[in-house]
Amino acid sequence: MASEHRTLWAVSDLHVAVPGNRDLVDRLVHPGTAGDELIVAGDVAEDTATVLDTLGMLADRFRRVIWVPGNHELFSRPGDRFRGEDRYRELVRGCRELGVVTPEDAYPQFGGHTVVPMFTLYDHSWRDPSLTAAQALDAAAEKGVVFTDQVAISPYVDVPAWCRQRLGYTVRRLSRTTGPTVLVNHWPLVREVTDRLDIPEIALWSGTRDTQDWPVRFRASTVVYGHLHIPVVREIGGVTHVEVSLGYPREQAVSLPPRLERQLWPYPVLTEVPE
Ligand SMILES: [Fe+2]
Repeated sequence: MASEHRTLWAVSDLHVAVPGNRDLVDRLVHPGTAGDELIVAGDVAEDTATVLDTLGMLADRFRRVIWVPGNHELFSRPGDRFRGEDRYRELVRGCRELGVVTPEDAYPQFGGHTVVPMFTLYDHSWRDPSLTAAQALDAAAEKGVVFTDQVAISPYVDVPAWCRQRLGYTVRRLSRTTGPTVLVNHWPLVREVTDRLDIPEIALWSGTRDTQDWPVRFRASTVVYGHLHIPVVREIGGVTHVEVSLGYPREQAVSLPPRLERQLWPYPVLTEVPE
């Protein structure tokens, strides 16, 4: 076993509550060798029990599972016991019981890289610079663009304020890393990757300008993200940015077959070659 290559794989946006997706995950997300590890970059599902059930199933398969939350994990209803920041803490507690690594844990190493699970949210700063955040959200609403987050997350926590807090926490920890990194976040870290959105206003809920220089500054070889459901691999400033979403059935019909054919889903982030 020690002579085998092992691979760090990545997936996101599994949306297992959507009909058909759980079966796809069950069928397609398997380790190649016993040492393989898996990144799950958010949007597993909306309900905590379903999220943890899925992560537990994957943790039984892979040597290690590294999870970061997406917006869907945070979706809450008025009657839910845990909402907003409490919802995140509930998920982290559940992951710890499963042995799944979260953004609150020590950063794992793989293939000479520090793998950094991040949770930085968004602050509506990816907008027309002539508008305030409130004006940009109003303008989007006038065009009929309102993200579900506005009714399922925003009522329970001030997202831009939480984003600032998460950015501070993350940059302090990143500053203590040395050597090459793999940065993992549900939301993209650089604005360029939002330029393919059919509805440009969705960028308002997709990241923050504060992470723009992080991939280069913190020596990332790869940035793994999801959220946009636009699975592409792009080189920006010498860093590979890879969107690893499974997405919804109508999206998969187009995006999944070519990726399966080229063995790019799950996406192989790093392979550790034995000495
Ligand atoms: Fe998302």
